[in-house]
Amino acid sequence: MGSSISPLITMDRKPAYADESFRSIRTQLDFLSVPSPIKTVLVTSAVAESGKSFVAANLAMVMAQSGRDVILLDADLRRPQLHSIFQCSQSPGLTTAISKPTLIEEILHETPVSQLKIVPSGPLPPNPVELLASAKARDTLDQLSQHANLVILDCAPAIAVTDPILLSRYVDGVLYIVRPGHNSRKADRRAIELLTQVHARILGVVINGMRNEAEPVYPLAY
Ligand SMILES: Nc1ncnc2c1ncn2[C@@H]1O[C@H](COP(=O)(O)OP(=O)(O)O)[C@@H](O)[C@H]1O
Ligand SMILES: [Mg+2]
Repeated sequence: MGSSISPLITMDRKPAYADESFRSIRTQLDFLSVPSPIKTVLVTSAVAESGKSFVAANLAMVMAQSGRDVILLDADLRRPQLHSIFQCSQSPGLTTAISKPTLIEEILHETPVSQLKIVPSGPLPPNPVELLASAKARDTLDQLSQHANLVILDCAPAIAVTDPILLSRYVDGVLYIVRPGHNSRKADRRAIELLTQVHARILGVVINGMRNEAEPVYPLAY
């Protein structure tokens, strides 16, 4: 499904329905940012292939196109995708900054939208959980949030690994992605349960890839 659509639908082909859906997520995030601003948002779902990277990338584009400085961080150290979507190199990236002294500017990669920067995963480590749990990871996230109005973290799936659960404690909120028909409701319930157990603030659920006659594929937030 959707193989004919570029992952960056908000940049090239711009089907109105898709653009509008991402704008509506943006508007809802703006509402949720009152009274205290949401500066760090983690994107996760129950399993792989739900569209986490797709939603994170397009939302980041829409946010940056509206004048915010946005950093999109590839925190999926199992199956990183942002460097492919944005066609930049995978390193230096997040793991570089965590594992050795690195200036934050070194891991920020340019994109076609001037206000959007990507931090790719960096080289994949054998021990992602230990790396992401480190004080240096938290420090890197803090530094990134000082460099932008919004940092979006594209994460691994919440049921498969503990990375997103762990990272959810460091962010202002979580955007949870559901792709209808892709996994069981039980899996979604379990993922939400794991997130709420660590008191993650779930900002909303994005239903990704719903189909109907008039609008072939679109994400929708509620
Ligand atoms: N709403 C959508 N419309 C079209 N293609 C989509 C949509 N959501 C995801 N895809 C595609 O489905 C595949 C899996 O999505 P991806 O974002 O990589 O999932 P995840 O990051 O959750 O593993 C990718 O090829 C992506 O471009
Ligand atoms: Mg992904």
